[in-house]
Amino acid sequence: MAKPPAHTFTCSACGAVHKKWVGRCDACGGWNTIAEEAPLSAGPKALGAKGRAIPLTDLATQEAAPPRAPSGMEELDRVLGGGLVPASAILVGGDPGIGKSTLLLQAAASFARTGLKCMYISGEEAAAQVQMRAARLGLTDAPVILGTETNLRDILTTLDAERPALAVIDSIQTMWLDTVDSAPGSVSQVRAAAHELVTFAKRRGVAVVLVGHVTKEGQIAGPRVVEHMVDTVLYFEGERGHQFRILRAVKNRFGPADEIGVFEMTGMGLAQVTNPSALFLSDRDAPAPGSAVFAGIEGTRPVLTEIQALVAPSTLGTPRRTVVGIDSGRLSTILAVLEARCAIPFAGLDVFLNVAGGMRVSEPAADLAVAAALLSAREDVAIPPDMVLFGEISLSGALRPVTQTENRLKEASKLGFSQAALPARSKTGGGEGMRVREMADLTAFVGEMFGA
Ligand code: TYD
Ligand code: MG
Repeated sequence: MAKPPAHTFTCSACGAVHKKWVGRCDACGGWNTIAEEAPLSAGPKALGAKGRAIPLTDLATQEAAPPRAPSGMEELDRVLGGGLVPASAILVGGDPGIGKSTLLLQAAASFARTGLKCMYISGEEAAAQVQMRAARLGLTDAPVILGTETNLRDILTTLDAERPALAVIDSIQTMWLDTVDSAPGSVSQVRAAAHELVTFAKRRGVAVVLVGHVTKEGQIAGPRVVEHMVDTVLYFEGERGHQFRILRAVKNRFGPADEIGVFEMTGMGLAQVTNPSALFLSDRDAPAPGSAVFAGIEGTRPVLTEIQALVAPSTLGTPRRTVVGIDSGRLSTILAVLEARCAIPFAGLDVFLNVAGGMRVSEPAADLAVAAALLSAREDVAIPPDMVLFGEISLSGALRPVTQTENRLKEASKLGFSQAALPARSKTGGGEGMRVREMADLTAFVGEMFGA
């Protein structure tokens, strides 16, 4: 007699399936990520109908770029790559309470006002609660169709009848399919629900936005496999205690990844921030040691951020290295290069590094500004307040030119900065009225800035 199908154990981070529970996933190395799943019900054994095959040449008349519907919210449209692509599936992830529902209700209202038929389906809040929120955000006049439902079968039936251009599902963790034998929010439910919704989006030409809460490890719960299914993955992030929120494209089949949109959480919902540099630098303290302004590029636009460092004698055997907003591996590398190439040791010193305003910087071009902030803190010498810095530091201590030098300088100049420290051989076309100080390596930088 056939045995009933056994339960499987699936990693909520990478989706790998294991035969038994283990503390650590062999596939991705994650600890405590394995969750038990009920067996999937056996599907039909018969072969499906023949899939449709179309010669690519027959599609030649289609436009190369997908048509897009802009929402009118400039910051959102930029992150989407110009607007909403029909029949696409978008995942918006973020910490609970960061403002995802607020953002998507505003976005749905904005799309609805341009004439698109939009549905907002909440599995977390009652209709009255969503309505109250809409009233608070001043959106009651927007023709968004509201649904409060968690049974995916009912939702798909409604969507099929209504055929909106955009459907927001808030959130994917609350959705459940009666064919899957586990609780809502479990890996198998989330995966199955996401699969159904993405398939529906493609078949019926409805753009679907899935809202997903991330776990404390920073993964969209239930799990990365959802990221693989969708066309676009956006993260809505921000530091608690800061009102800034950043919508970041980490994957986009229809536009550039790494693009960001900047918002500010106000009492009236999310307000767009069209000039993020001015915002991030707005509450800069008086010139103090340990502060350096980095001229960065986020997606297609230059963004200036302040990098702050604090260096203090350590009482610990292993000194502290605390980093917010920058990869900690990058800090270790820069400290090692400073020590090995410039003979400036940080041993015995606690180092704290922070990007002001809750921004996260991932460009290697930030290296020089990080080194400058560290040196400035260590030597107790302030960097000139009208100076921006950028450049990648190689392990040899050489400074490497980075992309978009001109754009960085232009933005800095626009914000009133008048000098820039950057790698030699950077292609600057006159420097936009800036005093450009080109330096070949870190030793030259230390010599020029700190007279050592
Ligand atoms: P919400 O969109 O519910 O977050 P999520 O869907 O990501 O869980 O946002 C909740 C937070 O936003 C809550 O702490 C209150 C705050 N908020 C404002 O500050 N102003 C507003 O106008 C709204 C609607 C919410
Ligand atoms: Mg919510």
